[in-house]
Amino acid sequence: MHHDTTRLATDFNEEDSNTSSNPAFVQVLETRLNRRSLFKGAGMAGAALGATALTGCATTGQAGSTVQQLGFKPVAKTTADRVSVPEGYTAQVIYALGDPLTGNTPAFKNDGTDTEWGARAGDHHDGIEWFGLDASGQPSDRFASRGLLAMNHEATTDEKRASFFIHANGGTATLPRPASEIDKELMIHGISVVEVQTDGKKWAYKPASAFNRRVTTMTDVALSGPAKGSEHLVTRYSPDGTRARGTLNNCGTGRTPWGTFVSGEENWFGYFHRDAKDDDTRKKDKQVQALNRYGRKAGAASRHGWESGGSADTYARWNNSALGARAQDDYRNEMNTFGYIVELDPYNTGAQLVKRTALGRMGHENVTFDRVVADQPVVAYMGDDARGEYIYKFVSNAKWDPKDAQGANRLAAGDKYLDKGTLFVARFKEDGTGEWVELSMKNPVIANSSYFEFKSDADVAIFTRLAADAVAATKMDRPEWAGVNPKNGEVYITLTNNSNRTVATADSANPRVYTDLKGSKEQKGNVNGHIVRLSHSKPTDAAFRWDIYLFASEAGADKATVNLSNLTDENDLSSPDGLVFSPATGVCWIQTDDGAYTDKTNCMLLAALPGQRGDGSTKTLAYGDKTVTTHVGKPPSPATLKRFLVGPRGAEITGITETPDGRAIFVNVQHAGENTAMADVNNPAKFESQWPANAGYGAGQRPRSATIVITKNDGGVIGT
Ligand code: FEO
Ligand code: CA
Ligand code: CA
Repeated sequence: MHHDTTRLATDFNEEDSNTSSNPAFVQVLETRLNRRSLFKGAGMAGAALGATALTGCATTGQAGSTVQQLGFKPVAKTTADRVSVPEGYTAQVIYALGDPLTGNTPAFKNDGTDTEWGARAGDHHDGIEWFGLDASGQPSDRFASRGLLAMNHEATTDEKRASFFIHANGGTATLPRPASEIDKELMIHGISVVEVQTDGKKWAYKPASAFNRRVTTMTDVALSGPAKGSEHLVTRYSPDGTRARGTLNNCGTGRTPWGTFVSGEENWFGYFHRDAKDDDTRKKDKQVQALNRYGRKAGAASRHGWESGGSADTYARWNNSALGARAQDDYRNEMNTFGYIVELDPYNTGAQLVKRTALGRMGHENVTFDRVVADQPVVAYMGDDARGEYIYKFVSNAKWDPKDAQGANRLAAGDKYLDKGTLFVARFKEDGTGEWVELSMKNPVIANSSYFEFKSDADVAIFTRLAADAVAATKMDRPEWAGVNPKNGEVYITLTNNSNRTVATADSANPRVYTDLKGSKEQKGNVNGHIVRLSHSKPTDAAFRWDIYLFASEAGADKATVNLSNLTDENDLSSPDGLVFSPATGVCWIQTDDGAYTDKTNCMLLAALPGQRGDGSTKTLAYGDKTVTTHVGKPPSPATLKRFLVGPRGAEITGITETPDGRAIFVNVQHAGENTAMADVNNPAKFESQWPANAGYGAGQRPRSATIVITKNDGGVIGT
């Protein structure tokens, strides 16, 4: 979901609920001693520092290989309604909204009359990960011609309330909404796993594969980690607070070192309704503060009105009000069962989904794992995507055992590494250093907080944003994807944009405040976003150093105040979101989810060969009396940052994964045509986009989110 001020639909990524007065309101106690004792004995063996070969992502024989230069001609900016790739490359659509996932599901008609949504591709393809299969169908990190794609189906293209391309006449925007429409919408969210293969010439998905799977808002899920069984997770569905139903608004993804798929629940809060009197009903309930902090004020209207479908649990669960006598009588806690990292074993259609509460509850984008080293903790990085939210790190208690990379029980490895550990939040300092602050009851600032009453680590796991407020974490410009550079372990985090950033709140790590024009419309704040970069001596360190790898900008913007990274027509971009380092080549892929520069170009995918933290200089920005000094990486050149792809109209480019040989990349194209008016749902001439039908894929003309595969015509490695 993007920040496009001209769009018709409500932008649910524009959450704005961090009203905490960081960093000034709390007296931050010294927590360094705490951390030092926690990591006693965790010193990393110097010889193991460069090891990448044991990560699930790095493939045997490929680990550490990196390309030295980007061997393609950059793609020009365009507003054409197609996927544009460099000369010598081919993009092919292989899997779109509605495609059948069983052998007996009818072909997709794409006219709003299709049924059997639990056996079809979901909507709004987002993060995506490759899980290889060998010829006999066993998991393989090496085979490159057959595999599973596990991906998120984040949301649906909606105007006002209804998901309009999946209903014949665009759906009902008024309340109450028909149950028959809601039933479809409940099924097009979630995750899918789909088998794909190539015959050496063309890739295709396999509609009848036994590996194909759909997970929706209705799938039973286990709650695991510190919050399991918490009183705040008790619902009518699970009176003991150990289970939940479904996953929602799944955005970014990751691949664990033990070969499972992990998915972040992002803008889930918008799907819930609270009665206008709910604050009064809950009078003494500390959750009122948390509900507000997580974006749901009493009286809030829900995104799709799912709670209005009837009295059945299927619909009632979306009303997060305290309606009964006790929590087990209603769904007052239903929101607390969303906002987690969800783990799925892509190779086992029968394996239960697990919400890993130790990684905190927020608007999760993705989760990326640092390079694993034998006998060291597993470390992962995450962003909370909303204006003024934070960047997090998780460190497992268990030490990495390389045997777990190939273990038979992958979710047992998840239990081992993701249920017990410590969550940290980032605090940036002006001098280019920063620290990871522990979020647990071991930190006295949290245990003794007067800001919010934390009684246990379960409370920290559920009310993570409040714990991060309490330690005065640094409010960032919408943290999106994190990625770890396989060459040197540096962590990159995209900060997509922030319309709330003002001169008063500008700081060294979020230094730009400016006005940009889109046509005659003024856009303010950090309009185009940036990418921050962190380095550590070792991943478990509390201290880090940082700089800004890249300031996104229009090429023509002022180089002293906006275009600080000296971008040109070959590589200018706005609103970086997806960021993934290729394990095969080391190329850093950057994707955009933009609404600011879309008068000039559709969203895009760029390839980068970044340097390292500290390779640039400091720059000082003057805002009247106030100056802000920041740390800028060496500006990229058209040789080290190039546009590789431009998507169709209205689409965000999101999610990218590859075969282990780097010769095929899979990219998701989300919500083409989303700025179409619902009144035009049966008037193709007025669609903003007719992709992928206009690329020769599938029936009907309604636009569909889809996965594309990109190959090089000479069979070579992508990007080289
Ligand atoms: Fe779903 Fe933050 O993008
Ligand atoms: Ca502009
Ligand atoms: Ca995203």
